Order: sequence, then structure tokens, then C-alpha cells
Amino acid sequence: MVSFKSYYFFQASIVIVLLFMIMHMTPSFARLHMNKVSNKENQVINDICSKTTNPSNCLRLLKSISGTSTADLKGIAKIVLDLARSNATKTLDLINTLIPKTHDFRLKEGYRTCSEVYDNATDEINNAKSDFIQGDYSGMNEQASGAMTEAVTCDNETQGLPIDPSVRKGNQDLQNLCEIILVIANLLKGSN
Ligand SMILES: *[C@@H]1O[C@H](CO)[C@@H](O)[C@H](O)[C@H]1NC(C)=O
Ligand SMILES: *[C@@H]1O[C@H](CO)[C@@H](O)[C@H](O)[C@H]1NC(C)=O
Ligand SMILES: *[C@@H]1O[C@H](CO)[C@@H](O)[C@H](O)[C@H]1NC(C)=O
Repeated sequence: MVSFKSYYFFQASIVIVLLFMIMHMTPSFARLHMNKVSNKENQVINDICSKTTNPSNCLRLLKSISGTSTADLKGIAKIVLDLARSNATKTLDLINTLIPKTHDFRLKEGYRTCSEVYDNATDEINNAKSDFIQGDYSGMNEQASGAMTEAVTCDNETQGLPIDPSVRKGNQDLQNLCEIILVIANLLKGSN
């Protein structure tokens, strides 16, 4: 009777020990797997950023955007295209609210030019997105490069003017995002 009980006790302890081992192994398996995955994704981000004019800036930007660490090249393309669109739209809305509030004639003119070119930039980003969806990576490249030029034009046309810092930052953000889109379009072209 006693030995029967202790036999069950022995079995139960083996089960408990095994359970403990599994519980302790699972997180390290998960960690291993996650490390593998994020190394792989970092490689995609590294590939993109190494081809930009400011790789460390590009790395900081892409790593700060949620979803990029688990996305492949096309996934990152979609995220950055959507971000560029919402970015350009927000800057355009800001510019349009600044125009009637601005009494400095030259600055008002500058904002008007920016509003026009940002209107075109939002169109171009939309076109880049549909080109991307259709697999037309040359078109995607051209449209992104167009949108990038719009941001540079707004910047040029307001040089030396007391422009709102958020518009200045919007120009820079749009240029950075468009450059990333350009690089991705070229990588996708190369993989065709
Ligand atoms: C534009 O994108 C940048 C990242 O490039 C982000 O930091 C910034 O908050 C965005 N701005 C707007 C107005 O959405
Ligand atoms: C915006 O795009 C339209 C149509 O492509 C073009 O005719 C116009 O000149 C562009 N405007 C600016 C300010 O670039
Ligand atoms: C912006 O200004 C720079 C420097 O003056 C010039 O090289 C560039 O061609 C201009 N770009 C646009 C789109 O106006």
C-alpha cells in the first residue's frame, strides 16, 4: 500500500519536473525565435537604409515606425507609403490654415506655393501607392521622386522666410519618407 502510494508520488513528481522544464524552455525558445525574426527584419531595414543618403537617420526613422520590424520589403513599402500620405496631408492642412492667418505678403505667397505643390505631392503619393500595388515599380519610383521634389520646392520657395517650424519639419519628413520609397522601388525593381 505504502509502496503503491509512493509510486504514484514518484510519477507525479516526474510530471511536475517535466512541466517545469517545459515552462522554462518555452520562453527561451520564443526568445530564440524572436531574435532570429528580428535579425532577419533588421536585415531588410539595413538593406534599405544603406542605400539612402543618411543611413543612420533612415534606421532611426524606420525603427521608430510600428510594424516595420516584422514586415518584409513590400510590407515596409506599404507602411511608408501610407505614412508619407498622412504626413503630406497633415502638412497640407497646416499650410492651408496658415495662409489666411499670415499677414507677411512674401510668406503668404510662399505658403500658397507650398499648398499647390503639396496638393500635387499627395496625388503623387497616391499614384505611387497604386503603382506599387500594380507592381509598376518604375512608376512608383517616378511618383515618389516627384513628391520629393514638391517638398524641396516648398522648402526652396520659403527660404529665409519666417515659416512655421512644423511646415519646415514636414518638408524634411516628406523628403526622408520619399527617399525611402524610392530606394524600396529600386529594390523591388531589382527583384523582379
Ligand atoms: C511625419 O512622419 C514623421 C516620421 O518621418 C513623424 O515623426 C511625424 O510625426 C509625421 N508628421 C506628421 C504631421 O504626421
Ligand atoms: C501640379 O500638377 C498639375 C498636373 O500634373 C500640373 O499641371 C501643375 O503644374 C502642378 N503644379 C505645381 C505647382 O507643381
Ligand atoms: C532647390 O534649391 C537648390 C539650391 O538652391 C537647387 O539646387 C534645387 O534645384 C532647387 N530645387 C527645386 C526643386 O526647386
